[in-house]
Amino acid sequence: MCGIIGYTGINEALPFLLSGLEKLEYRGYDSAGVYVHTDDGRDMLVKEKGRVKDLEEKTKSYDLSGKSGIAHTRWATHGEPSVANAHPHVSDDGRYYLVHNGVIENYKELKQTYLSGVVFKSQTDTEVAVQLVGKFAAEGLSTLAAFRKMINLLNDNSSYAFLLVDTKTPDLLYTAKSKSPLLVGVSKSANVVTSDATAMLNLTKDFIELQDGEIAIVSKTDVKLYNEQGEYFTRQPFHLNIDPQAAEKGAYPFFMLKEIDEQAIVARHLIQHYFVDGLPHIDDAILNSIKQADRLYIIAAGTSYHAGLIGRRFFEKWAGIPTEVHIASEFAYDHPLISQKPFFIFISQSGETADSIQVLELVKRAHYASLTLANVMNSTLTRDVDFALPLLAGPEIAVASTKAYTAQIITQIILAAAVAGGHTELQGQLSRLAVDMQAVIDGKDHIKVLADDYLVNTDRAFYIGRGADADVTLEAALKLKEISYTLVEGFAAGELKHGTISLIEHGTPVIGLISQSKMAGLTRSNLEETIARGAKTMTIVTKNLANATDEIVLPELTGEMEMFGPILEAIPIQLLAYYTSLGRKLDVDHPRNLAKSVTVQ
Ligand code: AGP
Repeated sequence: MCGIIGYTGINEALPFLLSGLEKLEYRGYDSAGVYVHTDDGRDMLVKEKGRVKDLEEKTKSYDLSGKSGIAHTRWATHGEPSVANAHPHVSDDGRYYLVHNGVIENYKELKQTYLSGVVFKSQTDTEVAVQLVGKFAAEGLSTLAAFRKMINLLNDNSSYAFLLVDTKTPDLLYTAKSKSPLLVGVSKSANVVTSDATAMLNLTKDFIELQDGEIAIVSKTDVKLYNEQGEYFTRQPFHLNIDPQAAEKGAYPFFMLKEIDEQAIVARHLIQHYFVDGLPHIDDAILNSIKQADRLYIIAAGTSYHAGLIGRRFFEKWAGIPTEVHIASEFAYDHPLISQKPFFIFISQSGETADSIQVLELVKRAHYASLTLANVMNSTLTRDVDFALPLLAGPEIAVASTKAYTAQIITQIILAAAVAGGHTELQGQLSRLAVDMQAVIDGKDHIKVLADDYLVNTDRAFYIGRGADADVTLEAALKLKEISYTLVEGFAAGELKHGTISLIEHGTPVIGLISQSKMAGLTRSNLEETIARGAKTMTIVTKNLANATDEIVLPELTGEMEMFGPILEAIPIQLLAYYTSLGRKLDVDHPRNLAKSVTVQ
C-alpha cells in the first residue's frame, strides 16, 4: 500500500506532487520518488530512501520546473526500502515512467516469459509492469494498447493503481486501477490523479472515481475514460464536501493526539446524525434486511475488528441476533459454516482494506446481504455493498486508529438499538457519555505521568480484563505495540494462570481494565496473582468499582451504562500508548513498518 499522485496543469507540478505525497504518507513512508518533465524538455527522476521530506530535500539540488509529473511514497512489498526500489520505475529504453500501488502477484512468471533479455534496476514487482509497456510499445503498439496489454497479463490476485507517463506525450497521464483506490481530480488549472482525495483538497474537491478495470488518459484540460472492453465513456465528477483544515494538524505535535482529543465531538456528531425525535434513526431498508437475518457476521481487521468485538455484545443483547466477529484475512480463505440467512457487516476506517474487500467478493458471489460502517465514504467497501453507514469521525491521519474505534463502537450501538426498537433513553445516555469522554480526555496529564513511570522504559507489558474489558485489552495491546514497539499482550484475565503468567518478572507492567461489576473482583484477584510474582500493576477502573489505590479512575457507569465501559477505557489506553511513544521520541504518527490503509493482502 503506497500513495501515488500525478499532476498535469498550467502551474509548477513539483509543489503539488510533494504536498500531495506528504498527505499520502499515511499509506507508506519508507522511500519516495518523483518524475517531472521540465519546461525545457528534460525527463527528471529523483528518488530517496526515507520520508517525503527527505525526497523534498534532495529535489532542491535539481531544476525540476515543469508542468507535469508523477510521484510515489512507498510501503515496501517486494524489495527492501532503497533508492533503486523506490518508484517511479523506468522502461529499459527510458521512454516510460511508472508508479504503482498494489502487488503484481505473477511478476516472476511475466519476467521469465516476456523480459528475459531486460536488465532490471530494482527487485520490485512494479518494474516488470513498465518494462512490459516499453517492450510492447517498441513492438509497435500505441501507448494505450501497450498499457492495456500489460494490464491484461496480470493475474486475478494482483492489485494495482498505475500511473504511467510516455515521455513522447509528457503532459498526458495514463492511469488504471483494480482493487487499489484511485481518483482523478478535475479543476480549471489542472487535472490530477491521486490515491486519496484528501491529498489534493488544496487544488480541487471535484473527483472522478475509477472503477476496477477502467483506464483513463488525463490531460491538463480533459479526462478520457475507457472501460474494460476499451470503449470510451464519460462520468460526472462527484463533489467532496470536506473542510481541508480537518486534515491539518494545527497546533498539535502529532495527528494522533488531535484525533484522541476529537472523540467526544465525534460522539456528538453521531448523536446529531443518527437520532430523530430522540430515537435512533436508521434507514428502514437496512433494518428490515438485518431483521430478516438469522445470524450477523462482522468482518474487519486490526482496530476495526476489535470494535466489532464490542459491537457484537449489543447486537446479541439488544437486537437478540446471534453475532460472530471474524478477522477478514482468515475469513476470506477459511470461514466457518455460514447460516441460512446471514447478514454481513464490514467495519473499516479507510474502506480500502484488501482483506475485507476479499471477503466482500465472496459475499457478493453468494448474494448475501451486506452493510459497511466506514469513515471514508466513496471507498471500495462502501461502494460495492448493499448499504453503507458513515462513522463521521473526520479525516483520521495518524496510522494508529483512535477516534474511528470509538466511532465504530458508538455506530454499532445505535444500529443495534434501531434494530431492537425502543431505546428511548439511548440519546441521553450517549450525550452523558460524550461529557464523560471529554472529562477523561481532559485528564491526560495524569496519564502521561503513568506512561513515563510504567511504560517508557519497559520492553514488555500485559493488559488483562474480563468480559467486554477482555475485548478492550486486545485494542490496548495493539495501540501500545504499533506505536511504541513494546512487546505487549492483551487477554482474558482468567487465562493468565494457564501459562502466560510465567512471563511475569519483577517490575513487569500489568494493566487491569475494570468496568464490568460482575467480574471486577475476579480481575483484581488475577492482578494480585501477578503482584505476587513481582509485577507492577496499574488499574483503569470506573468510579463505581474503584478503590483508593486505583491509578486511573473513569467516570461512573452503572446498570445498562456499564456496557459503555469500553468507550471510556479506549481513551486512557490510547493516551498510554501515545505518551509511551512520545517518551521514546518515536514518530508517533508514522510508526515503522506500518501504513494507515492496508491495500494488499
Ligand atoms: C490500527 O491502529 C491500525 N492502523 C490497523 O490495525 C487498522 O485498524 C486495520 O488495518 C484496519 O484498517 P481499516 O479500519 O481501515 O479497515
